[in-house]
This record gives sequence, structure tokens and C-alpha cells, in this order.
Amino acid sequence: MRPGDPLAFEDLVEDYDAARPSYPTALYDALGPLGECLELGAGTGIASVELARRGSLIVSDLGPRMLARGLDKHSGPAVVCRAEALPFADDVFDTVCGAQMWHWTSEPAAQEVVRVLRRGGRLLLWWNESEADGQPWWDAQQDRLEAGNPLYTRGYREVDYNAQLGEWFTTAPPTLIRWSRTLDLELYARWLRSKSYVQKLADIDGFVAACLDDLREVFPDGLVDEPFVTRLWRFEKT
Ligand SMILES: C[S@@+](CC[C@H](N)C(=O)[O-])C[C@H]1O[C@@H](n2cnc3c(N)ncnc32)[C@H](O)[C@@H]1O
Repeated sequence: MRPGDPLAFEDLVEDYDAARPSYPTALYDALGPLGECLELGAGTGIASVELARRGSLIVSDLGPRMLARGLDKHSGPAVVCRAEALPFADDVFDTVCGAQMWHWTSEPAAQEVVRVLRRGGRLLLWWNESEADGQPWWDAQQDRLEAGNPLYTRGYREVDYNAQLGEWFTTAPPTLIRWSRTLDLELYARWLRSKSYVQKLADIDGFVAACLDDLREVFPDGLVDEPFVTRLWRFEKT
């Protein structure tokens, strides 16, 4: 059970695009050559621009509004589709990429990716995760989310993707890249509102206000410094 609705992002495009974290350069360097590349769940194109620099890219997403916003940043081509039903021929891509999206998919997505990849082709998946756990403002935020959204748990993206996808691909241990970003409180609030599981709360304004109050105490200059880890999983079709 997912803690939010996958189509929720369609009404969150502005906040999403303004406030979501990007990915560090070291992540793109770790991807290697992309060749003919399909990006799944490309959203507003936060990763797409860098992927297009490194390969011949087709972007896709189930949300047409999210996908349309990405076309401000790169020229496409862009295809509205679900990862579970890809409108592409067999054996046509060298790489399939997914940034912060695979947890939204269901099992047919793996079969579809295997089908469209060439032999030796790679599925590359990555996520940003905050590493602020243990800091009181972060723990209080997570406590509020768990209390207000029964489908949410703070570890819901801590999945062993090698166990999940080992049936389909050759696996490798994930690569971890640590970095941080500094965000003002206005953008931090927009980031909170851009999360599908925050949209499930009965009192979104109250949640955001309480989180900002905590942050003001720790970051009196209004600039939130937050550590992240980007976790990259690499799979190969044999
Ligand atoms: C958290 S966003 C990530 C967007 C972008 N990749 C990024 O890094 O910011 C998840 C995206 O996956 C899309 N999505 C959700 N379920 C999907 C599915 N089954 N197939 C394809 N896209 C999906 C959503 O519409 C949304 O744009």
C-alpha cells in the first residue's frame, strides 16, 4: 500500500518543480554511458536534462502535466505511459532510468523493462533520502506524518531492490552518494506540500506550520541545511 496517490503530483507541478531536490553530479557520473535511454516517471524533468546530455533520451510518465513541465527544460520526445505498459518494441533501449519513482510501480514494470532493454542493457534507479533522522525537528516531522497518514511510515522507501529485482536482472550493491542542500523556509514549505503523502493529511496547513516552527528554532536565519544520501541501484539484463 502506498502512502499517497500517484496522480496526486498532477496538481502539485508548481511546488514540485520549484522545491524538490535535484541529484548530485556524482550520481550522473556514476551512471556511465546511456546510449538509447528511456526515463520512466520523469516528472517535471529534474533528472532529464542531465540524462539528455549523456544519451539519446525519451522521457515518459503517467502524468501528462508533470511531463509537460519537463518540456520547458529539454526537447523530449515525451510519452505519456505507465511503467507497467510501455508502448515500445522489444530490445530497443540500452538503458532505462527511474529517479525517485520505482516505488510507485507494480510487478509488471520489471517484465516490461526487461522486454524493452537490449541484452546487456541496464536499469538504473535512484532515490534521494534525507539523512536528518535523529535531529529533533526531523523526528517530530516524521511523528506528525505517521500520526496523520496511517499509510505512511518513515522507512517506506527502504526497500532491498536487489531482492525485489534479482529474479529479472543481474544485481550489484547500491552506490551511496552523500551531499546536502540549503533551502529557505518558503521553499521548504513548498517541498513539504509537494509530497503525495502530505496531501493525504487532514490538516496540511497545520502540519506545515508546525514543521516550520520547529525549523525556525534550529535555523534562526531561515536557511535549512539538510544532509542527503542518493542511493543508486544498477541492474543488468543478461
Ligand atoms: C516522486 S515523482 C519523481 C519525478 C522525477 N523522476 C524526479 O526525479 O523528480 C514520481 C513520478 O512517477 C510518476 N509515476 C507514478 N507511478 C508511475 C507508474 N506506474 N508509471 C510511470 N510513472 C509513474 C508520477 O507521475 C511522478 O511524476
